[in-house]
Amino acid sequence: MHVTFAASAPDDADVVVLPVEKDGVGRARLTSLDDAGRALVLGGAAATKFDGDAGAIAEYVVTGENGVRRVALLGIGAGADRDWDKAGGALIARYLVGGTTTVAIDLSSLDTPPTAQAIAGLAATATQRGWRHDVYRTKLTAKQKPSLTSLTIVGAPGDTDTSFAAVDAVTQGMELTRTLVAEPANILYPESFVERVTQAVDGLGLEIDVLDEAQMRDHGMGALLGVSQGSRREARLLVLKWTGGGEGAPTVALVGKGVTFDTGGISIKPAGGMEDMKWDMGGAGAVAGAMKALATRKAKANVIGVMGLVENMPDGNAQRPGDVVTSMSGQTIEVINTDAEGRLVLCDAITWVQQAHKPATIVDLATLTGAMIVSLGNEYGGLFANDEDLAGQLLSASLASGDKLWRFPLADAYDKLIDSPIADMKNVGPRGAGSITAAQFLKRFVDDGVKWAHLDIAGMVWSDKDGTNYAKGATGYGVRLLDRFIRDAFER
Ligand code: BES
Ligand code: MN
Ligand code: ZN
Repeated sequence: MHVTFAASAPDDADVVVLPVEKDGVGRARLTSLDDAGRALVLGGAAATKFDGDAGAIAEYVVTGENGVRRVALLGIGAGADRDWDKAGGALIARYLVGGTTTVAIDLSSLDTPPTAQAIAGLAATATQRGWRHDVYRTKLTAKQKPSLTSLTIVGAPGDTDTSFAAVDAVTQGMELTRTLVAEPANILYPESFVERVTQAVDGLGLEIDVLDEAQMRDHGMGALLGVSQGSRREARLLVLKWTGGGEGAPTVALVGKGVTFDTGGISIKPAGGMEDMKWDMGGAGAVAGAMKALATRKAKANVIGVMGLVENMPDGNAQRPGDVVTSMSGQTIEVINTDAEGRLVLCDAITWVQQAHKPATIVDLATLTGAMIVSLGNEYGGLFANDEDLAGQLLSASLASGDKLWRFPLADAYDKLIDSPIADMKNVGPRGAGSITAAQFLKRFVDDGVKWAHLDIAGMVWSDKDGTNYAKGATGYGVRLLDRFIRDAFER
């Protein structure tokens, strides 16, 4: 779907949409309608109890100069940015399929014109809500396929296209993330993940580095490689570097868990729902999408994205419970449960980025623990941080972007729970506080003086129900959050 900004509504628009504030039907300026049309819309709104709640839509058919036309009222609630987002999402949910091809939103119905930012938000949310992954659905009927091709916004402030370009970069990053998350594991495995991302960021000016298994072995990444050894697929470490901040600006590292499929390994998962583990690379997917967004909008910051890509399988060469592996940091790990593999991948990725790029700040993202879903369900991601400022910046970015986060504690008492009698640590703690002990594990690999945050996004990358800016399926969680975090905390 293509978004354009125009001074007047195209004559051929299938639906002309008129935004209306909460309880604002009486105030709406319906200047594009004649008297009969106005009477019909006002009467219809009363009859259908349309009240202007954000995202409410009521459609009427009127006759005018151009013959029979569809006019829709679109509720924008109090007119806050979030309300405009909601309206944009609802509009596309309504008109994406079903034969409508062109929709025009006429802002002249409002007596106070919205800000460029609000309209850019509506357009971005609309675009995001219209994303679909239909590549394997070969039997969709014409009616089931998206029909909407164009959204024209009429009467937006002059600088709206600049605002829109910045948020559209985020949308493009999010679409990459969603595609990676949605693809099944027979199609998307470490090597094909690298290929997909390489193609998707081509020409954007990102520096790309790929480590294969031999190189990772040379670096001593025994924890990551231990996870990979039961799979026919080769592991990869994918690195995307964006230097928009110039010399002297600090480097931020974004590190993502990219387990392209998690069977659990020898500690194998139950069959029911195991298919969900195709999206166990959602952290790496978010990092790839965020890097694409930052490069597309030429962010003025130095950011390095690191994705640890492996498949966790149980073959004759797989690691066993009780095995001891040596991580790149030199610390040894007793692998009590081969299903606690994400932390084993991340610890080596974190060590590698610290040695190779000396970041001042690290944010890792991972679908790390089922326990996080027990804690927060699918509404908030979990935040863990060793630095108050960093935690605050991420919480602000979460509020501003809509990708919600809730902070959890870290403490020595939790750290003790992963001491091992045979190695430096074990990869799981007792039953309680599973998300926190996972975070404590990662913390053991963060160098002194490095600001670090861990986002456990297990409940966020996939949704069983539609949201404001996504249909059920891959959500693209993390891209808006990271983009906002970099923008507010690192760009000037
Ligand atoms: N990828 C899973 C976590 C997960 C589970 C994400 C369900 C999304 C939905 C992770 O690798 C895992 O298996 N974690 C174990 C850890 C346990 C063995 C300590 C878990 O949560 O059960
Ligand atoms: Mn697992
Ligand atoms: Zn996993």
